[in-house]
Amino acid sequence: ETERVQAIATTTKSQDTIPEEFIRSEKEQPGLTTFNGPAPDIPTIDLKNDHQDQTNIARLIANASQEWGIFQIINHGIPAEVIQKLQSAGKEFFELPQEEKEKYAKAPDDKSIEGYGTRLQKEIEGKKAWADYLFHNIWPPSSINYKYWPQNPPSYREANENYAKHLKLVVDKLLMYLSLGLGLEGNAIKEAVGEDELEYLLKINYYPPCPRPDLALGVVQHTDMSAITVLVPNEVQGLQVIKDDRWINAKYIPNALIIHIGDQVEIVSNGKYRSVLHRAVVNKDRTRISWPVFCAPPPEMVVGPLPQLVNEENPAKYKSKKYKDYMEKNKLSLNSTKVSSLQDF
Ligand code: SIN
Ligand code: FE2
Repeated sequence: ETERVQAIATTTKSQDTIPEEFIRSEKEQPGLTTFNGPAPDIPTIDLKNDHQDQTNIARLIANASQEWGIFQIINHGIPAEVIQKLQSAGKEFFELPQEEKEKYAKAPDDKSIEGYGTRLQKEIEGKKAWADYLFHNIWPPSSINYKYWPQNPPSYREANENYAKHLKLVVDKLLMYLSLGLGLEGNAIKEAVGEDELEYLLKINYYPPCPRPDLALGVVQHTDMSAITVLVPNEVQGLQVIKDDRWINAKYIPNALIIHIGDQVEIVSNGKYRSVLHRAVVNKDRTRISWPVFCAPPPEMVVGPLPQLVNEENPAKYKSKKYKDYMEKNKLSLNSTKVSSLQDF
């Protein structure tokens, strides 16, 4: 049976060391590579009254997606209570006894990536990440397999269904702004990534306290393979992004959603928008939890640069391929800088 990081964290709690397999190389150690000087913040975009100001919002989102590949949104329309219920249901699940969580464990020979787990394979440079996780689809309803949804706490299902319903409106809106921001018709990017078949895969990252957060990583650097990712953090900071070759911290803003541009939007935009290289660090005393939702094309969908964006001066920078082939290729390319969050599963 796989040893869970949550269990390792309990036994190393009062120590000043962590097991060797969690100690990153000097190139990766947060203690040596985090930039602590003055740095710009990830852009925050206020969507309040956005319908009165579509052109301006589209411009802000397009600029952030070109320069950063990540931004936070506030006044996005999802009630704070809906987010809080998602968070408490997920947190309660991870606080259940271990044998209860193991009921949802992904079997090693399982084809689906859904389920509870810990990275089984070692990652780049043979090191392990300081995190356990739970994966399951939340949208569209036809993609949901409730056997991976915790029955405990009893509020889990309603909290997640409610969040998914609200999230759909936000994702549709973001995809529209991303299209308008490139001077395209509002539906262009959404159509190019699967329209209403876009699949929303929720991951809960559970990062227990770590005695040596200067040496370990919660999630190794990667870009998301998705079209876009919408992430709910808890109040414990830990997300870092590359900006001007430096690892900088994402600021925690209560009730904000963190939007990552994923590889598929980079591809359909022919490189106008950039997927962001990011990683997660852990905390000495506190548990960090995050809830990214990867919105990705259906596996059989062919994704490539939008024809409207390709001409003689701007040749296609990416090959068109099925999303499942993209995933397969990136699973294998362990040395690529685009190490995806879904790698290994
Ligand atoms: C985070 O926990 O903030 C990021 C996790 C990820 O990118 O997978
Ligand atoms: Fe990620």
